[in-house]
Amino acid sequence: MLPLIFWSALCLTTPVVAGRCKNAPLDVTWPSETDWSSLNASIGGHLLRIVPVAASCWPNSIESHISCNTFYQPDSIDYPIYANNSCLPPNVTGYVHDRGCTTGGLPAYIVNATTEIQIATAMSGVMRALVEGRVVTTGQDPSVGLGLTYGLDASHVLQIRVVTTQGETLVANDAQHQDLFWALRGGGPGLYGVVTDYVLRHHPAPSNALPDLVDAGLAGACMMSTGEAAVRFASLSEATTGVVISQVFWSFNSTSFAMEALVRPVLTRIGRESTPNSGSSAVTITFSTSNLANYTSFISVISGSSAAGSQSVISSRLLGRRELLDTVHTDMTSYLKTALQVQNATAGTFATIGLQGGPGVQQTPPGDWGALLPAWHTACLHFIANGATVDSVTAGSSKRALQDAARWYEAKEHMWQLWAPEAGAYMNETNPFDPEFKRDFYGANYDRLVQVKAKYDLTESLFVLAGVGSDRWDYDLDSGRLCRVS
Ligand SMILES: *[C@@H]1O[C@H](CO)[C@@H](O)[C@H](O)[C@H]1NC(C)=O
Ligand SMILES: *[C@@H]1O[C@H](CO)[C@@H](O)[C@H](O)[C@H]1NC(C)=O
Ligand SMILES: *[C@@H]1O[C@H](CO)[C@@H](O)[C@H](O)[C@H]1NC(C)=O
Ligand SMILES: *[C@@H]1O[C@H](CO)[C@@H](O)[C@H](O)[C@H]1NC(C)=O
Ligand SMILES: *[C@@H]1O[C@H](CO)[C@@H](O)[C@H](O)[C@H]1NC(C)=O
Ligand SMILES: *[C@@H]1O[C@H](CO)[C@@H](O)[C@H](O)[C@H]1NC(C)=O
Ligand SMILES: *[C@@H]1O[C@H](CO)[C@@H](O)[C@H](O)[C@H]1NC(C)=O
Ligand SMILES: *[C@@H]1O[C@H](CO)[C@@H](O)[C@H](O)[C@H]1NC(C)=O
Repeated sequence: MLPLIFWSALCLTTPVVAGRCKNAPLDVTWPSETDWSSLNASIGGHLLRIVPVAASCWPNSIESHISCNTFYQPDSIDYPIYANNSCLPPNVTGYVHDRGCTTGGLPAYIVNATTEIQIATAMSGVMRALVEGRVVTTGQDPSVGLGLTYGLDASHVLQIRVVTTQGETLVANDAQHQDLFWALRGGGPGLYGVVTDYVLRHHPAPSNALPDLVDAGLAGACMMSTGEAAVRFASLSEATTGVVISQVFWSFNSTSFAMEALVRPVLTRIGRESTPNSGSSAVTITFSTSNLANYTSFISVISGSSAAGSQSVISSRLLGRRELLDTVHTDMTSYLKTALQVQNATAGTFATIGLQGGPGVQQTPPGDWGALLPAWHTACLHFIANGATVDSVTAGSSKRALQDAARWYEAKEHMWQLWAPEAGAYMNETNPFDPEFKRDFYGANYDRLVQVKAKYDLTESLFVLAGVGSDRWDYDLDSGRLCRVS
């Protein structure tokens, strides 16, 4: 089975100006309308001028045919603060009425490619002549997935087709372009080229009808919350001064009865240990189980909301057996307190802790690991902490709000370095301002990934925050400029 991914959006923004910065729309060297038209003609009219998703919420701004309530366009990104909150729908976090709606930090153009040839044409000669610069690709990084049962997605990729920034289409597998094949499996998103096709090892979707999942064991996620966040997440009727912990477990081909048999003894022990001799417990425990008919319903139950306008910055760590079992109790207590520290105690905070690992990951042969951070193979928990108040309105700009959050998270980053110096973090769900991002996101693979990137992206056209080689560049949200660090 060959899953063909024939849709890809390239956001062409900025060419290299002789020297330090890539080209930007107001530069004299920015391609003319005629240049853009000829690029458009060479790719079958697939060039789109950006229309920010929320443009229709702003009368008299950029023309849009999408209603204010239904945002979907290739430019949409999860966290608009990273695009300088350039065109927010009214009243979401970060919204300032006077700012209106601009292209601002969003890409100026998008190539809505439907064929590999269009991608190659856009990337190669014509595009380089026009805009030799930054190309941001959208798409998923095939690194994580059903770890517990089958191992991580990156371990099941057999072949990848990729269009490079030079416009070459390469087939990467165990026999050719092995270095690129390795890097594309876990070595960071959008850094090496545009992937048009993955060949994946196929597995049946888990369902209660599959005998091969009996060995899968228990997976799940835990949430710890405080303040108003606890009221919201745990549907409390009033605020509490303590921590609310909700732990969800899931298991395939199991029953409520079997799950309860596993979980009850643990709850009984927690209840007993938290009850002093005087009798009344400091802990309240509630527990319930449910069954889901199939994998589709399961995914929809555990998936979050897709509301617009999120502004968070998080900090996370992959924790293994060593960090969980060999850490002195008092140290552990202090680390957890730091993890739950919050800037605004009234608002409160939350931490989510995913159960990772399992036999699938552990049994993956090292040859199938790709460039994935090695800590994935020993991780038991993916611990995501929050707590910073990310408020671009009070801070005055998205740039300053992100800088403030980065500074506030220094204490948490320091705590992870003490607790789990050898582990690392999942680059897609962590603090992109982690000063140790090379070691924490890529580990021992970093230097080799730099070489692979230099070989396939000769013009350094692909830039990703905290991506491989990103320390050579500075992206300034205020000016919208990507400049080489001197
Ligand atoms: C590209 O060409 C198509 C077809 O002619 C047109 O609809 C589209 O608006 C053009 N794109 C730009 C950015 O001009
Ligand atoms: C935004 O909030 C203001 C003040 O609460 C309200 O008057 C306005 O109707 C809201 N706008 C939208 C589009 O919801
Ligand atoms: C980013 O937003 C700030 C205001 O928060 C604004 O001054 C600046 O011009 C914006 N930059 C871009 C590139 O849109
Ligand atoms: C992108 O191209 C596809 C296929 O031609 C088309 O269905 C889709 O509407 C296009 N998207 C936009 C935003 O123009
Ligand atoms: C599910 O698990 C039970 C054991 O609990 C096993 O007997 C059965 O074969 C498994 N598969 C199916 C399809 O029920
Ligand atoms: C999954 O289960 C739900 C609820 O029972 C049902 O509506 C849906 O059709 C099922 N989907 C598949 C793919 O079997
Ligand atoms: C703290 O959070 C509360 C509740 O969300 C909010 O009302 C208050 O304005 C926040 N304080 C600051 C300083 O941000
Ligand atoms: C990356 O992180 C986002 C936000 O947490 C999440 O929605 C998405 O599923 C993640 N992607 C992958 C491939 O894990």
